[in-house]
Order: sequence, then structure tokens, then C-alpha cells
Amino acid sequence: MRVLVSGGAGYIGSHTVIQLVSAGHDVVIVDDFSNAKPTVVGRLEALTGRSVPVHAFDLADVDKTEHFFAHEDIDAVIHFAGYKAVGESVAKPLDYYQNNLGTTFSLLRAMERHNVHTLVFSSSATVYGADPELPMTEDLPTSATNPYGWTKVMIEQVLRDVAASSDAWRIAALRYFNPVGAHPSGQIGEDPSGIPNNLMPFVAQVAVGRREKLSVFGGDYDTPDGTGVRDYIHVDDLAAGHVAALDRISTADTGMSTWNLGTGQGVSVLEVVHAFEKASGKPIPYEIAPRRAGDIAASYADPTRANADLNWHATKTIDDMCADTWRWQSGNPTGYPDA
Ligand code: WQD
Repeated sequence: MRVLVSGGAGYIGSHTVIQLVSAGHDVVIVDDFSNAKPTVVGRLEALTGRSVPVHAFDLADVDKTEHFFAHEDIDAVIHFAGYKAVGESVAKPLDYYQNNLGTTFSLLRAMERHNVHTLVFSSSATVYGADPELPMTEDLPTSATNPYGWTKVMIEQVLRDVAASSDAWRIAALRYFNPVGAHPSGQIGEDPSGIPNNLMPFVAQVAVGRREKLSVFGGDYDTPDGTGVRDYIHVDDLAAGHVAALDRISTADTGMSTWNLGTGQGVSVLEVVHAFEKASGKPIPYEIAPRRAGDIAASYADPTRANADLNWHATKTIDDMCADTWRWQSGNPTGYPDA
């Protein structure tokens, strides 16, 4: 199929482009490059051996989106484009609601006008809210503790209602746990701008000498070693889950399905630190700091529905995630070049 990957120059989008191409799909990227570097596209073409068409515009622009669909023959869409920083969303809620919802409305309307009804949506385990039952299953109630999370809850609801309005729609919402790692080539990876909010990129920047030490947000949680526990999933496993979901919905029943993409295993902050020291051979100095507002003690998936429905399983270990992250970070100490 010819697949539009919105936000395809971003971290998860770029890794998914590689897996789509290797699965035999044709890919076209739309990205406004607000959170990605053009360098990524050349690296994707080198890694896939194929040209990867890119259209640089904001999908919230209704006219440009309509022009794109009128001139491009698209069979399906994987929708990554959106702002994703929890803390930033608290400071700039209107930006988050307008951008994340606006791009989705513009995209859905253009898809409908051009008879494109197959969509995979990038959702998040953040929709399970503040104190979810563990392990998290897809039928848990959804809520959020920040505007970013609410945009995911709201977009899932929009998609449920759109799917219910016509049998033509085939929609998958994929709820990611904690995506980390990088393509084994070391050519593409996570490249946050500014000080990383997330654990793995921060640890990687300590290892490569860009940051002095890690603050471990809380050492007194009710977890085995007192630090936060999360379900880290390798970005290549996550990308494979998108290809599997696309294949499933494009051949299966119509309507909307929801799948967790996680390993089902919880790993603590200190376990990540020790795994990264092993993978990199570098010390990761840290201090135990106060808990971060909004954090929960533990979060990990029950991935059995995705395992069964998609015939998909996360395969990579935390050691693989750290080794691949280190190969990317040590080869790109300051991230992607601007050129
Ligand atoms: C992981 C653990 C922190 C940084 C976030 C979003 C979520 C999703 C994934 C988009 C926690 C601890 C972190 C640091 C630390 N994003 N930590 N020191 O918060 O589980 O999830 O990213 O969908 O929506 O909320 O990920 O990597 O920020 O934190 O101790 O400098 O590492 O307390 O226990 P999180 P994270």
C-alpha cells in the first residue's frame, strides 16, 4: 500500500518508515519539521535504499492537506504528527489542544473527502491516567493528568465516533508505553531538543558527556528498589507493531481497535542506569532527587491482546535498548546535524 506517515521524520515515525518499506509498502512523509531535522530524510533513504518523498507542511493547514490528498494517491495513513511533551503541555495547553486536535481533524476530513479510510493512530499509555490497575489492559477507563494526555484521550474518542459513523473506516489506536532505543545502524535515533524530559535520552547524554549527572526522580516509591518502574519498549519493536496493526486493519473487520504496545515487563530507573553503564562502558553518576510532579510509581502493559490479534511480540531486551541507544548517541554526540 501507499502509506502517508504524518510526522514521519520524527523519532518513532522514522523508525516506522524503515519497517514499512522493508514490508513492501510505499511511503510518503508529511512533516512540518517542528520537532525533527531534515537530516533524517537522507539517512532514511540511505537505510532503505529508496527515495522517500517528503512534503514539508503542517497538517493543520486545511488547504495544504486538501492539495496533498488531491495530488497523492494514498491508501492508508499512520498518524504520528503532534506535540508530545507532558510538561510543555501544562505550560501551553492551547497550543497542544489546537495542534494535536487540529491536525487530526484536518487529516480526517481530507481522508474522508478522498475515500481514504484506513488509519493507525499514535496514542499513548498516558490515557490510563494517574493510578491505573496493573498490568494495564485496553479495557481500563481512560483519563489524563495533563493536557497532552487529554489530547490523546479526546482524539481516541473522536476516532471511536468517526468509526461508528460509517462502516468504511478501519482504525487502530496504538497505546505506547515507554519508547526507547534506536535503529541498530546507529544512523537514526531519539534527538530531543534542549534538556531531555525522558529518562533514556538523558542517561545517554550523561554517558556521552553532555550532562553532568542524572537526577533520579524519587527513591521512595513502593517498588523493588524505590525508583520508578516503566515498560520500556524498543522503538523497532514499536515500529513493527505499527506495520502489524496496519496489515490487520486493512484486511480485517471495519471499526476501531485499540492495542497496547508494550513488553509487559517493568524496569526501574536504577535498572536502566546499570544496564546503560554495562552497554556503554561509561559511568552514569546520579543523585536521588525529589519525586517529579505527576509521576506514578509503576506502569507496565498487559500486551496479550496485541500479541494475539497482531501476532506481534516485543522481542528486544533493556540491554538491546541501551546498546542501540548508545550506538546512536556515541555516533551523534550532539544529535542530528542541522544541515
Ligand atoms: C521514566 C522514569 C521518571 C527523567 C513519558 C510521558 C508519556 C510518554 C513516555 C508520550 C520515571 C524517571 C525521568 C529523569 C528520572 N510520552 N526519570 N530522571 O514519564 O514514564 O512517560 O514519556 O506518550 O506520556 O509521560 O517517561 O522517561 O520521563 O520517565 O528519574 O531525568 O524515569 O521519574 O520514573 P514517563 P520518562
